[in-house]
Amino acid sequence: MAIYLNNAATSWPKPEVVPRAMFDFLTSKGANLARGAAAKRDLCTMDMVMCCRENIAKIFDGFQDADPRYVTFTPNITEALNVVLKGYLKPGMKVVTSSMEHNASMRPLRKLEQKGVIELTVIKCDREGVLHLEDLNAAMEKDHFDLMVFTHASNICGTVQDLPGISAICNGYGVPLVLDSAQTAGVIPISASELNLAALCFTGHKGLMGPQGMGGILWRPDFAGEVDCFIEGGTGSFSHLEFQPDMMPDKFEAGTPNLPGIAGLLAATEWLLEESIENIQSREYELGSFLLHGLKKLQGLELAGKMTMEGRLPVFPINFKGRDHAEVAAQLADDPGIETRPGLHCAPTAHKTIGTWGSGGAMRVSVGYFNTEEEIEIFLKALEGILSIPAEA
Ligand SMILES: Cc1ncc(COP(=O)(O)O)c(C=O)c1O
Repeated sequence: MAIYLNNAATSWPKPEVVPRAMFDFLTSKGANLARGAAAKRDLCTMDMVMCCRENIAKIFDGFQDADPRYVTFTPNITEALNVVLKGYLKPGMKVVTSSMEHNASMRPLRKLEQKGVIELTVIKCDREGVLHLEDLNAAMEKDHFDLMVFTHASNICGTVQDLPGISAICNGYGVPLVLDSAQTAGVIPISASELNLAALCFTGHKGLMGPQGMGGILWRPDFAGEVDCFIEGGTGSFSHLEFQPDMMPDKFEAGTPNLPGIAGLLAATEWLLEESIENIQSREYELGSFLLHGLKKLQGLELAGKMTMEGRLPVFPINFKGRDHAEVAAQLADDPGIETRPGLHCAPTAHKTIGTWGSGGAMRVSVGYFNTEEEIEIFLKALEGILSIPAEA
């Protein structure tokens, strides 16, 4: 039986209600969105999509009493970040980010920089992956930025940035702040309206417990007004117009959405609201502490990033003395069937920052809400077994 320790890639298993809702949509509901005759099934789809927007706005404490129209659905957070960055950034603008970013934001930023559209400043984080507020303050004092984008928590070592501190600085300098919440949505409470985030980008298939193929943006209304739409096309509304409507949520959603995905995400968000993010956070902290304690007792491995559970998620990058981490990951996958993720995790600059670039990254072990202490014990035993065999010279 597989033991899944790769929750930073996608959460698994999903709550049972998620596949059930998707099956139900595809087998008995199934009407397209706003492209029917207002039959019962058409209204049912409209209701489902609106309820999902409402839950997302509730989870992230959206603006104007969590107005659901300011939730846009995209296939994943990568597209969400592309929509925001490419729709907002204009020639001559300056952007600041951190050295812990995932390629989901780094690549669009580098592309815009290469094309001469923007100037990019990357603030170097420390070896634990922490972005220091003094460094951000110093950068903001020196230069005027038009946007800041950063990841709330690192996907390689789990370090959680000081979001309230960073947002206070951005708000103080009047710089719109875009958050990559890929690793924290659903596992750390976030209030977009309290933090005054310009846009909160999310992915549906990690901590939000939904299916792959879902992500999106929660907008601050005035900021949504300043962003050009990424794609144009049919919205099932304003069909007399040859131009994309400016109304939300239609502005950023052309084409038939991933309705089975929305059915799954709706079920997942209902489950999440019932379970509570605070409970999930404390359970993950407990499991993370248990794993970290066990890892520290093993000989022959090197941990990177933070050495305690404070200010981090249960995501651990591991290297091995005299052994290739990818080979260890393959051995674990082979027998007893433990799933981790070796390599660079789409975050090369982040690996350079925490010192794991030279080893080609690390074997990342990431715990999720459905893991158990027993599974972690099996993993630790299996790892101890591998490390007890002398490494080849
Ligand atoms: C911090 C971070 N940002 C962005 C992404 C991209 O997510 P997706 O593939 O769902 O677009 C990931 C995925 O691992 C991530 O960890």
